[in-house]
Amino acid sequence: MKVMVVGSGGREYSIGLALKRDPNVSELFFAPGNGATPWLGQNVTCKDYEELAAFAKEKGIDLTVVGPETALVEGIVDIFRAKGLVIFGASQAAARLEGSKIFMKNFLSSYGIPTAKYIETHDANKANAFIETLALPIVVKADGLCAGKGVIIAQSKEEAKEAVADMLSGKSFGDAGHGVVVEEFLDGYELSLFVVCDGIDYKILPAAQDHKRLKDNDIGPNTGGMGAYAPTPLIDDVLYKKVEERVIKPTLAGMQKEGTPFEGVLFIGLMIVKNEPIVLEYNVRFGDPECEILMPLLKTPASELFYKAATQNLKNLEIEFYDKYAIAVVMASENYPYGTSKPSEIIIDKSAHEALEHTHISYAGVSLEEGTLYATGGRVLLCVGVGDTIKEARERAYLLCGQVHFAGKQFRSDIAYQALQYDK
Ligand code: AMP
Ligand code: GLY
Repeated sequence: MKVMVVGSGGREYSIGLALKRDPNVSELFFAPGNGATPWLGQNVTCKDYEELAAFAKEKGIDLTVVGPETALVEGIVDIFRAKGLVIFGASQAAARLEGSKIFMKNFLSSYGIPTAKYIETHDANKANAFIETLALPIVVKADGLCAGKGVIIAQSKEEAKEAVADMLSGKSFGDAGHGVVVEEFLDGYELSLFVVCDGIDYKILPAAQDHKRLKDNDIGPNTGGMGAYAPTPLIDDVLYKKVEERVIKPTLAGMQKEGTPFEGVLFIGLMIVKNEPIVLEYNVRFGDPECEILMPLLKTPASELFYKAATQNLKNLEIEFYDKYAIAVVMASENYPYGTSKPSEIIIDKSAHEALEHTHISYAGVSLEEGTLYATGGRVLLCVGVGDTIKEARERAYLLCGQVHFAGKQFRSDIAYQALQYDK
């Protein structure tokens, strides 16, 4: 089977690794890929999705897997399907669950799915009146895609009103802020749950926990995610059941009713408050760095999972995972997440790949020049460890971290700290 992965991050690299070890996959393409993906397959550059679909047709690509939300929100799935190509991902209409927070909140409330009390509006007066009714802190969100930056947790009513004014005027997020959601703050712990869907049937993947803040002990600015592990002991069978009955089933039924069945990866961002799951948001793709730990745990061939999901055939799949833990530690460049950093050469101790079993690197913001790998992006690479316990997986991942060098590298030293207390 010939498979193409759309995207260029560590998430797409990890999907590539899973496909590379899959006996059903004969050829692998990345569009556009990064500096390290040529080690796994062929990088392809096209000017738009029409051209990419024409390339897939010409090459006889059997399956395309989409990583990033932008491609989904821009309608890549619809363009490929119109050409009769098999593609794993959400349609443009279904991708509104991530592309518009207003659509998402109204969807949750129409189908009775638990979520924070909110108002959505384009009118500052309405938003301000609602702000007056809320306790502090107050959450203000821009409607559209803001690369994870469109959420403000305001510590005063004045700050909340200012955030609303800046969003509605277009000052803070351009067009993405022309509508806003204001909502109550939920105090609990966060979980990410990933569900592979084919429109009707679904498979739940092991629950993961991300670490969004830049620094140890969850301080510093929010980032795209500095590390993750799975499965997390922060969810038990009772909580899984609640999420399945109260969130997953009504979401898929609701999307069918809307005439936009959900296919692809439904990423449910949950806040667990007093053991009750409340939906913070949906995303319509794998999380990054969560994908990098879910792929190594997947025992079922990745091509089979994605192909069956993309062809409404998940009911005929018995999904299997290794009975192990995986943890990924993100190594970011010097100025992440504030700005770009000077490219610097990546040096990996020679022994790293041979001597460290059960570890690997997922490459993200890297470029390859004349055989030398440079750190160029914000999140440069991820050191992944797999083990029989969280502790073992973590030790392995951090051992690998110690063997990877580039100027200005920064990483958290406490990934999975909450889980360790369960890991006897
Ligand atoms: P979102 O993009 O909606 O997931 O928001 C980004 C982050 O903001 C989440 O991962 C939470 O940490 C935080 N957040 C969003 N909404 C709320 C809320 N209602 N209460 C508390 N924290 C929130
Ligand atoms: N790790 C969070 C995200 O991908 O949005």
